[in-house]
Amino acid sequence: MGQRVLVTGGCGFIGSNFVRLVLAERPGWEVANLDKLTYAGRLENLQDVAGDPRYRFVKGDICDPEAVREAMAGCTMAVNFAAETHVDRSLLGATHFLDTDIKGVLVLLEEARRIGLGRFVQISTDEVYGSIADGSFTEESLLNPRNPYAASKAGGDRLAYAYWATYEVPVIITRASNNYGPFQYPEKLVPLFVTNALRDLPLPLYGDGRNVRDWLHVHDHCRAVLFALENGQAGEVYNIAGGNERENIEITRTILRELGKPETLIRPVADRVGHDRRYSLDASKLRALGWQPRVAFPGGLIETVQWYAEHEWWWQPVKDHDGEFRKYYEQQYGARLA
Ligand code: NAD
Ligand code: DAU
Repeated sequence: MGQRVLVTGGCGFIGSNFVRLVLAERPGWEVANLDKLTYAGRLENLQDVAGDPRYRFVKGDICDPEAVREAMAGCTMAVNFAAETHVDRSLLGATHFLDTDIKGVLVLLEEARRIGLGRFVQISTDEVYGSIADGSFTEESLLNPRNPYAASKAGGDRLAYAYWATYEVPVIITRASNNYGPFQYPEKLVPLFVTNALRDLPLPLYGDGRNVRDWLHVHDHCRAVLFALENGQAGEVYNIAGGNERENIEITRTILRELGKPETLIRPVADRVGHDRRYSLDASKLRALGWQPRVAFPGGLIETVQWYAEHEWWWQPVKDHDGEFRKYYEQQYGARLA
């Protein structure tokens, strides 16, 4: 059946990959993309589909009820990717995180309730569970967010659930592990380290480099979100994980090896404060419904490294000409790398 889906944050990393997936794999669907175009949102991420008659871009803030009303009008479903997403930035100041990741979710849920939207997917994160030394979190595990970004996301996650429990807005919540792949803003570990290595700049590895993340290819994440949108049950939470737990030092070495660069580029620097040691999810609930990741590891990481090497036009303007990025980089790494 044809659907009209509102995607928020569609100009960011995961949102843009999701918009492209939906347009390619659901020919009868239309997509409206509501994005504020913050530092992380780039029209370039969707320039290949911008002319598709099934695609509509609306520039606006999910905290603005008027913009949300306009973008959601006529839609049958919504997927909320819009968020402030970088943990390090939330440690420099959390106000925007509370605004977008909690209040913005409230505005979207209110409009979904008002128009009787058919389905609402809230994109949450594994960070809401906090760190785990052994074993893996299930959807029943207690939430224990440990940084301002994670706490904001936990607020949005539970608010979405509350709109199901209270008003029966048909909400589904997904909690994914660390994504990697094309179009990721070069502040996050993988694109930052690849683009620095390509220029023989130091790779600032926090602490002892042994924190563990579970790497999920963005295409697998997007397929999981589409799967949950179509097959998930309202009121349910679904973990989404790649099943590729690796220490940061291993990811770093793979990147350097692939680019033929020396390990002397690795620069151990002062740790992230409150740095979660390990994230680990049990994703058997969504797998039991029929989703499973398709991208092999480290093959997917190697392809991603190649993608950044071949798409300098995409990241070079950010790293060289975006004053906001340069200011952030200096604030975050200046003293660490001095
Ligand atoms: P991103 O930072 O690349 O993109 C975020 C997008 O949201 C940008 O296009 C930005 O312009 C837009 N945006 C921000 N504030 C907005 C607002 N107030 N109104 C409208 N648009 C706004 O983020 P990402 O990495 O693609 O993450 C997308 C979602 O997935 C987020 O909700 C994030 O918490 C979640 N998530 C990310 C990961 C990951 O590894 N990247 C893992 C799990 C969950
Ligand atoms: O787990 C899901 C989360 O993954 C998402 O909810 C977040 O939006 C996303 O940003 C990501 O958070 P992380 O903090 O795990 O990702 P990041 O790429 O910032 O860092 C990954 C690991 O690498 C983490 O242990 C910190 C470390 N790191 C990161 C940077 C940027 C470094 O050692 N040096 C760095 O310069």
